[in-house]
Amino acid sequence: MIIQPRTRGFICVTSHPEGCAENVKKQIEYVKSKGLINNGPKKVLVIGASTGFGLASRISAAFGSDAATIGVFFEKPASEGRPGTAGWYNSAAFEKEAHQAGLYAKSVNGDAFSDEIKKQVIDLIKEDLGQVDLVVYSLASPRRTHPKTGVAYSSVLKPIGEPFSNKTVDFHSGVVSEITIDPITSQEDIDNTIAVMGGEDWKFWMEDLKAAGVLADGVKTVAYSYIGPELTFPIYRNGTIGMAKNDLEATVPYLNNLLKDINGVSYVSVNKALVTQSSSAIPVVPLYISLLYKVMKEKGIHEGCIEQMQRLLAERLYSESTLLDEAGRIRVDDLEMREDVQAEVAELWKQVTTENIMEISDLEGYKKEFFNLFGFEFDEIDYNADTNELVGVESIK
Ligand code: NAI
Repeated sequence: MIIQPRTRGFICVTSHPEGCAENVKKQIEYVKSKGLINNGPKKVLVIGASTGFGLASRISAAFGSDAATIGVFFEKPASEGRPGTAGWYNSAAFEKEAHQAGLYAKSVNGDAFSDEIKKQVIDLIKEDLGQVDLVVYSLASPRRTHPKTGVAYSSVLKPIGEPFSNKTVDFHSGVVSEITIDPITSQEDIDNTIAVMGGEDWKFWMEDLKAAGVLADGVKTVAYSYIGPELTFPIYRNGTIGMAKNDLEATVPYLNNLLKDINGVSYVSVNKALVTQSSSAIPVVPLYISLLYKVMKEKGIHEGCIEQMQRLLAERLYSESTLLDEAGRIRVDDLEMREDVQAEVAELWKQVTTENIMEISDLEGYKKEFFNLFGFEFDEIDYNADTNELVGVESIK
């Protein structure tokens, strides 16, 4: 099959298997170039392991610490003449590389919010690894069916209180326009978003894993959050998604207490704004990221998911002492939030228009990274050539 990019709104509906493999390979090479992480994790469960921060966490643990990994995700193989999803091809490529390197790697494809998938993962850990010493929680989803009540929740991305007006960009056309997003109309919108992206499912995972005895003494668990600049506060940190992140962060003390008797510890890591399938869906954020990339690249401090996750493991989670902020969180958004970086982005934000966006922002870089997520725009790949879309993930029968 010849696979070219096809976009619908902010998503790309096709993915290229060889391009995704190239993406994974580049991330592996980066991690290897950084050398082995001292006293890093050895048996790792990554929930949300197929794209973005979760995939980068899995690659960092496997190739930076020789870790055995179990990855959980919700992806689709190719069917009826349609290519599979990027996360499917990423996972196929990851497993292949891991197996060639002699590393244990198995994957579970299904709804991580469900009790069935939790049970399947626990059985797999029992059978193959006995216990895990790191659990990474990196789910990003617009929906969650509650495993105890069967209620299906959908998250919303909205401000709370006032309408929010600001600039935004259609990153395909480069048109900068003013957008107004109406605020939520009921508390239900907040509650639903918390139900999907808050801490309850992380808590359920850790409770089930602990009860099954599959968490090693000294286990660590980490979930990911975001803060960002004031200009995105109304739509992010002070909006519905921010309320879910507050809830996720508030789960840390509960988990620390749960894990106390096995000397376990839980963290939230605040990560940098990056192009992923999830972040491209948030209004205003892609324009901010385009300007941020420009400034950070010029300063030589730009990082992608893999640089972030390698640094999280090597310099935070597995360093002598884990540096935390006043609220007890790990911060790998430290470079993004640097005063000089934010001041320059704020200045560019005032200036940016459709006419000057190509010049003063890194929209080109944004677009390239967006297409890279789906395996496109890699020089190494011939996109006019036939490719085998029926690639399988080795551990999934
Ligand atoms: P992503 O969309 O690239 O990855 C999401 C992962 O979750 C994929 O592996 C997907 O298969 C999996 N998933 C989704 N629903 C699932 C389900 N029901 N069952 C099993 N797996 C499921 O997202 P990204 O951006 O890597 O986000 C991960 C975390 O990082 C999120 O908590 C997000 O809020 C956070 N974060 C993202 C930032 C960004 O700029 N992208 C910045 C800081 C934090």
